[in-house]
This record gives sequence, C-alpha cells and structure tokens, in this order.
Amino acid sequence: MMFSTAPTAAMAGLLLALGYISPAVAQTFQRLGTCPTLGCIFPPTQAEFIAGGHFDIRLEATFNNGVPDENFKLTLANGKGYSADVTSFFQIQDSPIEKWSFSYYEDLFARDARTPTVVNVASKAYRNLTLYEPGEYQLTLNYYNNQQTLANWTVHAPEPKRCAKNVILFIGDGMPQSAITAARLIGHKQINGKYQSTMQLDDMDHVGLQMTHSIDSFITDSANSATALYTGHKSTVNAISVYADSSPNPFDDPRVETIAELFQNQIGGPVGIVSTAFVADATPITMATHTRDRDLYAPLIQQMLNGQSNFSWVDWKGPDVFFGGGAEQFKPGSGSPNRTNYYNAFAAQGYQVVNNNTALQAADPSKRTLGIFSQSNMAKWLDRNVYTDNLKNGTVSPLVNNTGPALDQPGLAEMTLKAIDILKARDTENKGFFMMSEAASIDKMFHVLDYERALGELLELDDTVRQTIQHLEKIGELDETLIIVTADHGHGFDVFGSSDTKYLKVATTDRTKRNAIGTYQNSGHSEYQVAPGSRPENQTVVVGDQGPNFPVQWDPRYALAAGFAAHPDVRETYSTNTGGPRVPATNSTPAGNDYIANPRDQPQGFLTNGTLPVSSSQGVHSLTDIPVYTKGPGSDKFKGVYDSTQIFFRMCKVLGLGTTSRPGNGKKN
Ligand SMILES: *[C@@H]1O[C@H](CO)[C@@H](O)[C@H](O)[C@H]1NC(C)=O
Ligand SMILES: *[C@@H]1O[C@H](CO)[C@@H](O)[C@H](O)[C@H]1NC(C)=O
Ligand SMILES: *[C@@H]1O[C@H](CO)[C@@H](O)[C@H](O)[C@H]1NC(C)=O
Ligand SMILES: *[C@@H]1O[C@H](CO)[C@@H](O)[C@H](O)[C@H]1NC(C)=O
Ligand SMILES: *[C@@H]1O[C@H](CO)[C@@H](O)[C@H](O)[C@H]1NC(C)=O
Ligand SMILES: *[C@@H]1O[C@H](CO)[C@@H](O)[C@H](O)[C@H]1NC(C)=O
Ligand SMILES: *[C@@H]1O[C@H](CO)[C@@H](O)[C@H](O)[C@H]1NC(C)=O
Ligand SMILES: *[C@@H]1O[C@H](CO)[C@@H](O)[C@H](O)[C@H]1NC(C)=O
Ligand SMILES: *[C@@H]1O[C@H](CO)[C@@H](O)[C@H](O)[C@H]1NC(C)=O
Ligand SMILES: [Zn+2]
Repeated sequence: MMFSTAPTAAMAGLLLALGYISPAVAQTFQRLGTCPTLGCIFPPTQAEFIAGGHFDIRLEATFNNGVPDENFKLTLANGKGYSADVTSFFQIQDSPIEKWSFSYYEDLFARDARTPTVVNVASKAYRNLTLYEPGEYQLTLNYYNNQQTLANWTVHAPEPKRCAKNVILFIGDGMPQSAITAARLIGHKQINGKYQSTMQLDDMDHVGLQMTHSIDSFITDSANSATALYTGHKSTVNAISVYADSSPNPFDDPRVETIAELFQNQIGGPVGIVSTAFVADATPITMATHTRDRDLYAPLIQQMLNGQSNFSWVDWKGPDVFFGGGAEQFKPGSGSPNRTNYYNAFAAQGYQVVNNNTALQAADPSKRTLGIFSQSNMAKWLDRNVYTDNLKNGTVSPLVNNTGPALDQPGLAEMTLKAIDILKARDTENKGFFMMSEAASIDKMFHVLDYERALGELLELDDTVRQTIQHLEKIGELDETLIIVTADHGHGFDVFGSSDTKYLKVATTDRTKRNAIGTYQNSGHSEYQVAPGSRPENQTVVVGDQGPNFPVQWDPRYALAAGFAAHPDVRETYSTNTGGPRVPATNSTPAGNDYIANPRDQPQGFLTNGTLPVSSSQGVHSLTDIPVYTKGPGSDKFKGVYDSTQIFFRMCKVLGLGTTSRPGNGKKN
C-alpha cells in the first residue's frame, strides 16, 4: 500500500490533541472511521456477529501529552441488564498491557515536509471470545479518569432450520454490472436489438445489490472486501479477517471468524478454495487466515495449512481443495515459508499435489488436493484459448527446478468442476460442502486496462457457472446447492460506443484519431459475433473454437470503445492486445515513480492523460454497488440492497451456521 506510514487506527487522538476534531471527512492520510476518539474498541461500534462465532477484542488508549493511559477498563452490558468487566463477562483472565508507538503524516504538506506525528499507545487484547446470546450489547471503555468510548454490538440469532446443504460462492473479482453488460454484448448475438441468447447470470433466480465501501475509506481493496463477505465485518484496506489496530505486529490484530472456519468447525463438511490468482492473493487467502497486511504471502500460506499458532483461536484443519497459481510460495526459495518446499509441507499433511490440468483431471477425488498450476496469476482465458502462442514464452512453470512455461493450465471451469467432485467425494457423511471460486483476472486485467482480457475472464466465469449448474444436476446436488455469484468491488469501466480501429490507426493526429469513435447512432452493431469473412473488407481475425457464449472473433475492426474512470497516462486504439496482457504505463525514470504512457503499448493510438497520481501505473477500484446473483435454496434471501457484510449473515442463515449453546456447561452469556 502506498501510505505505509499511515496506520489505520487510533489517529484521532492526534486530532483531539491538536484541536482538530471536526466532521470525519475524507482525508488523504487520516482514517478516523474505526477509532474516532482517544480510546479505541475493536470490533468497533456497529459491529455485528453471528451467535457462537469467534472474535478477539483489542483495546487501545492513545497519546495524551505523550503518555497513554494504562488504567483503561472495558465494561460490557447485555440487553437484559447484566453488566460486567470484560474479564468477568467472558470468564477469562486479564491480559497484559502492551505498549508501542506509531507515526503518521497529518496531511500531504506534512508528508512533503517529512514531519511525521508520533503517537504512543497502551493496549490489551482478549482472544478467541464468543457471544452465544443473540441481542444488543453495549460496551464502555473508560480511560483518562473521565473519558469514555462507547460501542453497540449486535449478535444475530442463528436460523433454526438449514435450507441448503452446499454453498458455492463465485466471486468475479472487480466485476461491476457494466462489465457484465459489455461481456453479454460481445459474447451473444443480437438481431434487431434482441439477444438470441443470454448469459447464465441473466438466468439466475434472484438479483440483489451490495455496497462495498470499507470501514474507514469509501473505496475498498480485495482484502477488506473479502473480509466483509466472509466474516460479516467491515475492515480496513489490506486487512484480512481482522480489524486493523495500530501495533507494529501485522499478526496480532483482533480477528473475526470466517465462514470457512465456522463451516469446518460447526458442520464439519469439506471446504474448497479455487482461484485463477496466486493462491496467497487476498480473495482466496482471506477464507481462513488473519493479518493486517495482505502482502505477507509466505506466512499466510503457512496459516492456511496450519492455522493460527501465535494466539489462541479456533482449530483450522486446512482446506480440502486449494487450487490456483502462486507457485512462488511453494517452490523452495525466497517466496516460500521458511524457504522450504511447501508442496512437501502440504503432502506431509496428506494432500495430493497436482501441477497441471492432466494431473488435476486424473486426481483421486477422495483426497485433499493442492493444485498449483503456474507461478503468479494463472494465464488468462484469451491466452489459453485464442492467442495460445503467448503461453509458450512464459517462465512460470509451477515445478521445482523448472523455469520454463506452464502450458497445461486448467481453466476456471475445469478447476471448479473437479473441486466439486473432490468435495462431494470427501463429504462421506453427507454434511454438505462450502466452496469459493474466484475469477480473479477480471480485476487483474481491468487494472491494466486490458478490457478484452477482462471480458474474456468474465465470460469464462459465466461459462463456469453454467457448467457448474449442469454438473450439479448430473451428480444430484443441484436442488440442495445455493449458488451465489457476486464481486468484491467494481472498476470504473464502461462502454460508450464503438471504434473504427482501422481509421484510428491510420489517422495522423490525436484529434483526428478520436473521430474514429462512434457514439449513439454511429456506434453501430457489435462485430464480435460476426463470422470472419462475412464483412465486405477482409481483415486479420483470430477465430477461437470456444463454442457458444464467447465471441466468434476477438479483434474486429469495429471494436468496443470503452473507458475507465481512473487511469494513468495511456494510449488507446481500442484494439485487442494480441501479444499478451497489456502494460499501459511505464516508469519514466528508472529510480523514480513517475508513470507515463508505455511507448510500446498501442503506439498508433491517441494519448489520454491520466486521472490518478503520477505514481500510479494502473487503474484503480471504484465505488459502484455490486450485483449479487443467486440460484437455488435460500436464493431469495439475497434480494434487495444491502451492505456487503450481509452476504456473510445470509450465508450463515442458509447453512444454519451459528449456535446459542455454549459447549460444556450449557451456560449462556
Ligand atoms: C448506541 O445505541 C444507542 C441507542 O440506539 C444510541 O443512542 C447511541 O448513539 C449508540 N452509540 C454508539 C456509540 O453507536
Ligand atoms: C506469528 O507472528 C510472527 C511475528 O510475530 C510471524 O512471523 C508469524 O508468521 C506468525 N505466525 C502465524 C501463523 O501467523
Ligand atoms: C477457542 O474457543 C473454542 C470454544 O469457543 C475452543 O473450543 C477452542 O479450544 C479455543 N481455542 C484455543 C486455542 O483455546
Ligand atoms: C516455519 O517456521 C515456523 C516458525 O518458526 C514454524 O512454526 C513452522 O513449522 C515452519 N514450517 C516448516 C514447514 O518448517
Ligand atoms: C502433468 O503432471 C504429471 C504428474 O506430475 C506429469 O507426469 C506430466 O508429465 C505432466 N504433464 C505435462 C503436460 O506437463
Ligand atoms: C516468443 O519468443 C519468440 C522467440 O524469442 C519470438 O519470436 C516471439 O515473438 C515470442 N512470442 C511472444 C508472443 O512473445
Ligand atoms: C532441485 O534441484 C536441487 C539441486 O540440484 C536438487 O537437490 C533437488 O532434488 C531438485 N528438486 C527436484 C524436485 O527436482
Ligand atoms: C478477401 O478475401 C477473399 C477470400 O479470401 C479474396 O477473394 C478477396 O480478394 C479479399 N479481398 C480483399 C479486398 O483483400
Ligand atoms: C500526458 O501524458 C504524456 C505521456 O505519458 C506525458 O509525457 C505528459 O507529461 C502528460 N501531460 C500531463 C499534463 O500530465
Ligand atoms: Zn478485488
């Protein structure tokens, strides 16, 4: 993250001290959302829980004339008049005081002048707590004798009756509705304005909308949005299933239990995690790991396998299926935990390990399976299916001691269907399974403004959902499976017309090139569904043999004119990058951080100057609400417009997750 000197909690103390307490408006460095006073309670006010779910509490008292208060005290009250100190309330020992300090910049002027502000903190943490009784709770943190921070929490009752046996959660990373609309346009034929076929997403039972903002900034990244979807708690940019505290240790932040942890612990059925990203990336890894810093890939892989070792927490036995890219965390070397061979570490715990699609399809479905098919993110659908030569030059083999290409990579559908077979085979007691399957490179390709590759990934997701439904029907699980298809956040992408790419490339000035763009009546028809050779003029086209639901040609003369709300300097011809994923901007100074339009990217295009800080090499996420498509038992629970955290609570309802009975003595608190 760019503002690495800006911790996310406890900053308001500074503002109070400096007399700045004003409305919590958007500011470049301060993040007031989680802790608006000198004393902080995490989880903060407005937090919601499922009864029986696990969480940690972190308390912070920050800077007061340089000396933080160490005598703060937390009291909890339930709605029934019972009130007690935190230790009595949870029947736990008190925790030791921890102390640290952090610094941040007050604003951009302070950054430019390099004058950081220092904050001193006193803190306590209480781990692995549970509230079993549904209802409202009030928390009071007393500090500095007469100051208070208050918080209201809500604990939701579990649904008495489970309505779905299995849940499959598909995430099209960074997939706004505008991208689904554009994918439909290039993947499906129209006659006189009427589609002759539609997407699988168009044929789901229900649609809802979720709001994706994070706890303390209105634009989310994939880590804290995954946290919201999987735990029911909003978090901070870069944080994974924790609330970000201000301590230097990125692994001691207060944790909240994920749907996968709950599912494995309470129901005991198998759990699958599938992604086209590297598996340590935020969307897959947030399923069962906890840290403030999503970039700590190696320790996160270790957590995914072994669970939490530093502080007491619920037991995690590892996923039953773990598929994706990211071999750099498994091959022995600088990216792997302890620099050791992590394929062997998984194998030692009973996993079968596969590294290509042939081996994946042949794998024994009764075994826990690790499938790592490339280094970094996996190859894109367009390169695996249309511009296949691009795979050959790769140096991304997942195999130890191999620096060659990874030619035999599965697609999202191949991984997902095999995962279903493994989860079903491993579900010997018929408890049901939970799976998350991510089309990660919708987001990756939108970041680099490679619209065709992003839409290819989106059509692959839609095709995967279609094949999943057919497969579930075949194996007799469709009626008992809830399918959810949503995204974690949007991108500022939309289509506004067409582009005559031939005219654009020949025109000689930036201004005349722009006359190639057709808007309204001049936008004409999509040419992606027109069979090559049927146009009056011949052109170089690449034909994929992908069957229905994909374009017939990917690089037509009359292409989509699409744009992005936030981008670096970029040159645009609106043509498909046939030679591999796009690199829109390059650093102008080897040592610096000043991105200009990549002179080798679409050199015949016109220049559009950027809308982002010049240090940005890529486009960024956007604010838009995100559609939630559902099919199957419980799908009606996802109608309406709601916060992203409600996806977790609604999945809990469908699966009957949560409990009001305390293990052992049956006593409730
Ligand atoms: C807690 O809820 C009460 C009652 O709704 C409300 O008056 C109060 O402002 C809330 N406090 C916080 C800190 O949200
Ligand atoms: C425990 O914390 C240390 C740093 O304090 C970190 O290096 C290690 O990876 C953590 N382990 C887990 C499983 O999170
Ligand atoms: C965490 O709490 C659960 C009960 O809610 C308990 O079963 C488990 O053993 C605890 N974990 C540790 C490491 O104490
Ligand atoms: C890596 O190191 C950590 C911490 O020292 C240890 O807990 C873990 O077992 C090690 N993993 C392997 C595979 O050696
Ligand atoms: C796929 O993996 C299997 C098992 O590791 C190996 O025998 C086979 O040669 C691999 N195939 C390709 C095409 O790499
Ligand atoms: C792959 O490498 C060959 C030989 O270096 C080169 O001719 C070809 O253009 C490259 N192809 C791609 C797609 O980069
Ligand atoms: C990789 O190469 C090293 C050094 O030559 C060797 O010790 C090791 O066995 C090789 N590993 C595999 C999986 O081939
Ligand atoms: C277009 O292709 C057809 C069939 O290959 C060929 O006969 C014709 O000459 C081509 N036209 C042009 C303008 O190149
Ligand atoms: C516009 O973009 C070009 C190419 O990246 C760059 O050289 C130029 O400085 C930019 N102009 C502005 C005003 O940012
Ligand atoms: Zn994302």
